[in-house]
Amino acid sequence: MFSLLIFAVGFLQGHAVYLINSTGTMNEQEVCQCSVILPDNTFPADRLEALEISNQKLSISVNQEITKIQNYQVTLNEYILKLKNLTRRVEIVELGGISYTELDFELLKLEIREMESLVIKLKASINGSNTLVESLFVEIHNISVMVNQLESYDKNNVLAVRREIAALRKKLEECEKHQGVPAPPPPVSYGTCDHGGLKNISKPFVVQLNWQGFNYKFGGWGKDSFVGGDQDIHWVAPLTTDGRTMNILRFSPTYDDLLLYKKPTDKILTNGQGGGVILFNNSMYYNCYNTRDICKYKVDTGALERKTLTDATFNNRFSYASSIWQDIDLASDEDGLWVIYSTEQNSGNMVIGKLNSTTLTVERSWSTAQYKPAVTNAFMICGVLYATRTLNTRKEEIFYMYDTNTSKEGQISIVLDKMMENVQSLSYNPNDYKLYMYNDGYLVTYDLAFKPQEKPTENFPLRK
Ligand SMILES: *[C@@H]1O[C@H](CO)[C@@H](O)[C@H](O)[C@H]1NC(C)=O
Ligand SMILES: *[C@@H]1O[C@H](CO)[C@@H](O)[C@H](O)[C@H]1NC(C)=O
Ligand SMILES: *[C@@H]1O[C@H](CO)[C@@H](O)[C@H](O)[C@H]1NC(C)=O
Ligand SMILES: *[C@@H]1O[C@H](CO)[C@@H](O)[C@H](O)[C@H]1NC(C)=O
Ligand SMILES: *[C@@H]1O[C@H](CO)[C@@H](O)[C@H](O)[C@H]1NC(C)=O
Ligand SMILES: *[C@@H]1O[C@H](CO)[C@@H](O)[C@H](O)[C@H]1NC(C)=O
Ligand SMILES: *[C@@H]1O[C@H](CO)[C@@H](O)[C@H](O)[C@H]1NC(C)=O
Ligand SMILES: *[C@@H]1O[C@H](CO)[C@@H](O)[C@H](O)[C@H]1NC(C)=O
Repeated sequence: MFSLLIFAVGFLQGHAVYLINSTGTMNEQEVCQCSVILPDNTFPADRLEALEISNQKLSISVNQEITKIQNYQVTLNEYILKLKNLTRRVEIVELGGISYTELDFELLKLEIREMESLVIKLKASINGSNTLVESLFVEIHNISVMVNQLESYDKNNVLAVRREIAALRKKLEECEKHQGVPAPPPPVSYGTCDHGGLKNISKPFVVQLNWQGFNYKFGGWGKDSFVGGDQDIHWVAPLTTDGRTMNILRFSPTYDDLLLYKKPTDKILTNGQGGGVILFNNSMYYNCYNTRDICKYKVDTGALERKTLTDATFNNRFSYASSIWQDIDLASDEDGLWVIYSTEQNSGNMVIGKLNSTTLTVERSWSTAQYKPAVTNAFMICGVLYATRTLNTRKEEIFYMYDTNTSKEGQISIVLDKMMENVQSLSYNPNDYKLYMYNDGYLVTYDLAFKPQEKPTENFPLRK
C-alpha cells in the first residue's frame, strides 16, 4: 500500500512537467472536453522505466527497515522483561527482603553492566533516536545508580564488616594452620651484641658435681670466655674447702671428657684467692692470694704476670653476699676483659674496670651505686654489668644492671632457679650465650635469651 502511494506521487510529479496548457469546453452532453498541447509528441518510456526500478528498490529497503524494526521490537521486549525482573530484584533488596550479601550486589551490577552495553549497541544500530530504546537506556541507568546507592547507603556498614570478617577468618585459618609450629627464633650470632639486652634465663642445667666432690663448695668453672677462644676445653677450679685458696686448675679436652672425668690435665698454680677466676684467651685471670693484685697465668707456658689493682679492697673487705674471698671478680664479654671490685672511695659499692688483657691495667673504670656485699655475684654482657641477689634458697634474681656505654644504672627482675642454696661464681661466655655457675660444688649452666635490638635507653629504666 505504501509502495503504491509512492508510485502515485512519483507518477503525478513526473507528468506535470509535460502539461504545458490546456483548455476545456463543455459539450451538449455536459462532458468536459480538453485539448492538450504537448511540446514533444514522443512518450518518455525510458524515464518511466527508470522510475519504476527506483521505486522497486525503495520498496525493498522499506520492507527491510520494517523487518528490522520488528526484530528490534522483539529484542526490546526481551530486554524489557529482563529489566522488569531486575527491577523487582533490586526492589526486594532495597526493601531489605534479602540479606545484604556482597554476592547479590556483584551479580546485579554485572547484569546491569551487560544490559547497558547491549542497549548502547542497540542505540548505535538504530540510526537516529528511538523513544523505546531511549527510555530503556534511562531505566538501566536508573537501576545502576540505585544499586550503587544501595551499596553505599548501607549505613550499618554490613558489607565492610563482612569483608573484614572474611579477612579475619582467613587470617585465623592461617594461624590455625601454623599452630603448633612456633615461630622460628631469630638467628643467633654468638659473640656479637646484635640484641637489646638480657631478656630471660632458662632453667638451670646441672652438668655435674665438681671433680673434687661436694665438700668443695667454692670455686669456678667454664670455657674460654674470649670471643673466638677454644670452646672444647672446659676448666674447673675448686678452691680449698675454706673457700679461700685456688691452687689447682683442671682442664678437660672436651665436654664428654668433663662429664666422664676423663683425660684431665691438672695445673698447679701460684696461689689465687676466691672464685672470681676466668679463662680468657687461654690465660687464667684471678685475684692473687692475699693481695689486691690481678694474676694472669698463661695456660700453655705456665708464665705468670701480676699487676696491682689500684684502690681495690681485698681479703673480705667487700666480698659478695654468699661467697667469701671474692673481693675481686674477673669477667669477660664481647668487649673483652673486665674486673668487678670495690674501693673505700666508693663506699664498698661496685666498681667496674675495663682491663687490658696484656698489660693488666685498668683502662677505664665506672663507679656504681650498688653496694657490693649486697650482691650475690655479677657478670658482664656487652659492656653491661648484671648483678644478682638471693630471693630464697631456690631462687636468685638478676636485679641490677649498669651500662658502661651510657654510665647509666637500672633495675630489672629476671628470676633464675638454682639447685643449691649458695652461688659462688657466675661467669658469662659470649661464645655460647651461657652463664656458668658454681653452685655449692655443682657445675650449672643457664641459657640466656636476649631482647631484639632496639634503642638502648629503652632498656634501662633509670634508678632514682
Ligand atoms: C493558455 O490558454 C489560454 C486561453 O486560451 C491563454 O490565455 C493562455 O495564454 C495560454 N497559456 C499558454 C502558456 O500558452
Ligand atoms: C529473574 O532472573 C533470575 C536470574 O536471571 C531468574 O532466576 C528468575 O527466574 C527470573 N525471574 C523471572 C520472573 O523471570
Ligand atoms: C544515519 O543517517 C544519516 C543521515 O540521517 C546518514 O548520513 C548515515 O549514513 C546513517 N548511518 C547508518 C549507519 O545508517
Ligand atoms: C529515573 O530516575 C528518576 C529520578 O531518580 C525518575 O524521575 C525517573 O522517572 C526514572 N526513570 C525511569 C524510566 O525509571
Ligand atoms: C623466662 O624463663 C622461664 C624459664 O624458662 C620461663 O618459665 C618464663 O616463662 C620466662 N619468662 C618470660 C617472660 O619469657
Ligand atoms: C690472644 O692470644 C694470642 C696468642 O697468645 C695473642 O696473639 C693475642 O694478642 C691475644 N689476644 C688478646 C685480645 O689478648
Ligand atoms: C693494651 O695496652 C697496650 C699498650 O697500651 C696496647 O698496645 C694494646 O692495644 C692494649 N690491648 C687492648 C686489647 O686494648
Ligand atoms: C657498648 O659499646 C660496645 C663498643 O662500642 C659495643 O660493642 C656494645 O654493643 C655496646 N653495648 C651496648 C649495650 O650498647
